[in-house]
Amino acid sequence: MDMERRLEELRHLLAEHSHRYYVLDDPLISDGEYDRLFQELLAIEKEYPHLVTADSPSQRGGGVALDKFSQVERRIPMLSLENAFGDQDLFDFEDRLLRFLRIDKKPDYIAEPKLDGLAVELVYEDGVLVQGSTRGDGSVGEDISAQLRTVSAIPLRLKRVDIGRLEVRGEVFMDREGFEALNRSRAEQGEPLFANPRNAAAGSLRQLDPKITARRPLRFFVYAVARPVETGCKTQQEVLDFLAKQEFPVNPEIVHCSDIHRVIQRFRELSDLRHDLDYEIDGMVVKVNDFALQERLGAKARAPRWAIACKFPAVQATSKILEVNFQVGRTGAITPVAILEPVDVGGVMVSRATLHNGDEILRKDLHIGDTVLIQRAGDVIPEIVKAVPEKRQDSAVPIRIPDDCPECSHPLQKPEGGAVTRCVNPHCPAQRLRSLVHFCSKAGLDIDGLGKKSVEQLFTEGLIQDLPDIFNLSHEDLVGLDGWGEKSAEKLLLGTTAAKTPPLARFLVALGIRYVGEVTAELLERSYQSLEKLQSVTREEFLEVEGLGEQAASSIVDYFSDPAVQEMMEKFNRAGVRPRATSEKEEKLLLSGEVLLFTGTLKKLSRTEAKKLVKENGGQIASGITRKLTCLVVGEKPGSKLKKAQHLGKKIVTEDEFLKLLNGESDYS
Ligand code: IVH
Repeated sequence: MDMERRLEELRHLLAEHSHRYYVLDDPLISDGEYDRLFQELLAIEKEYPHLVTADSPSQRGGGVALDKFSQVERRIPMLSLENAFGDQDLFDFEDRLLRFLRIDKKPDYIAEPKLDGLAVELVYEDGVLVQGSTRGDGSVGEDISAQLRTVSAIPLRLKRVDIGRLEVRGEVFMDREGFEALNRSRAEQGEPLFANPRNAAAGSLRQLDPKITARRPLRFFVYAVARPVETGCKTQQEVLDFLAKQEFPVNPEIVHCSDIHRVIQRFRELSDLRHDLDYEIDGMVVKVNDFALQERLGAKARAPRWAIACKFPAVQATSKILEVNFQVGRTGAITPVAILEPVDVGGVMVSRATLHNGDEILRKDLHIGDTVLIQRAGDVIPEIVKAVPEKRQDSAVPIRIPDDCPECSHPLQKPEGGAVTRCVNPHCPAQRLRSLVHFCSKAGLDIDGLGKKSVEQLFTEGLIQDLPDIFNLSHEDLVGLDGWGEKSAEKLLLGTTAAKTPPLARFLVALGIRYVGEVTAELLERSYQSLEKLQSVTREEFLEVEGLGEQAASSIVDYFSDPAVQEMMEKFNRAGVRPRATSEKEEKLLLSGEVLLFTGTLKKLSRTEAKKLVKENGGQIASGITRKLTCLVVGEKPGSKLKKAQHLGKKIVTEDEFLKLLNGESDYS
């Protein structure tokens, strides 16, 4: 079959199914079927790279990392909005409109939830997404095209391709569930948490490496077109309908209001409704529906006259710090948690708030017994804004991070300059238990039958002390335990057996090495392919891996050089645990893991051909004679590179030997 046509067909099919899944929430095919279509597309694109188009779903994976964001200037600036804080402000807004327009007939409005995310602009040319940018200062934003392409709900291609240039605006955000899952996994990796979904969305979009953005649960709602009249639409309502037809996600809570009273009523409805939405909103945007009126009204310096944002009042309340608990995390990090007198903050009972760390407590000068101002940041995590010093009583005691671990009494450590206090006792039971829970959890090896409760039980029973113990559990160990029967024991054993050959990256994440999250783990898997190799890599060698930072490099080396860890690895091995590199295709390639360089004049190949051959066979090209280089291919009249490579004891082959090797005529060793 004509590959170009098949690709076109696959792009259409995948776009359609992705829209049904992400936007309409009404999939027609199973995940497996979707995957098969996607794999077919990838296979064809791999074979015919020149057929890859900007609107191919393969582009959602992320592509290459940038050094920095470039700037995007826009002809029509993205404006901001004036705020209204009560009914009177809305009546005043309407009065201003009428006076400005010198009309009596009151307009109708569109009321839209005000999403608490990041405004972005998407540019489509002939129906294909060609650019995406942040709002920036309104006129100049940053080009985040690659990052935005990874957001599944953003169409890469429109239904209508005859519009020429279309500039569409909307909000990228993270819903509550996605935000909580992301923070949970960051807590487990010992990475700093995002304060609220807005920051998480912003942090995810502003990643230079779009592959990281691709892993973040970002969503999108569209709300405007830069030059709406060009779409032929006469009202905001029509534009929203038009955008929905183009398969953009349009917020279903947008309503048409025939007058300002309905707008006010809708604001009340939305104030009640907001807690039931699965994402955060911080108010409601009211827009004059009619574009002819909008155009006449125009804009002041930064905000249009035809729209206004009604903001929800911040949800704050006062309470009292009753005591402070200190939690020991998996990495030994101590987190102080304030236990509060239960208080209603905007409809939610709050009785705990994180105090983050010792520095934060000092900064806010918090005492036990203090009356404190509580706020639900964004809307989810309660936090203490400040103490109310006038209400402090003599009995109030300053909060102090203890000297010893509350779980194992080992002296705690706080590194110079760092904010986090840690328990560094590797035998600390709290840390061990948390490591076990993480190892088995979804973020780790995802072992069937070993949820948090079961792990806690087996730990308390003394059946599992360290991670490898999980693989040595037997039928007899389990049956007879409280709550366990034949079936659950069987399920667990099947689960642990299946988990014995995890993908290497997953295994590394499950071990919970500090600074080794998913992205780093995959980089390590790709670069080293085996656990054994990884254990003997030096810090300097790690630093030569592009994308691996100093903190991660040191952390991995420290981890594997710890005798206790080495013993644990032995134990894993004895239990039959064999992490495997999943990119097996790459592994089988002749030059995978090899870094080559050419020098001198090649007789049979051009440089471009030679480099292409290396890449096709899974190898990399070195930038010079570096430590990373594994082999130098020499043509005629080689220069100083040859000497340098000889000096470093690198492997050296001729052009002919290189070709033989690729033809399988000699072994690469
Ligand atoms: S309209 C000129 N509609 O609010 C019109 N904005 O201060 C301005 N926002 O940065 C944008 N939801 O991020 C509009 N339904 C909505 C919105 C919305 C959220 C944000 C947007 C913008 C800010 C305006």
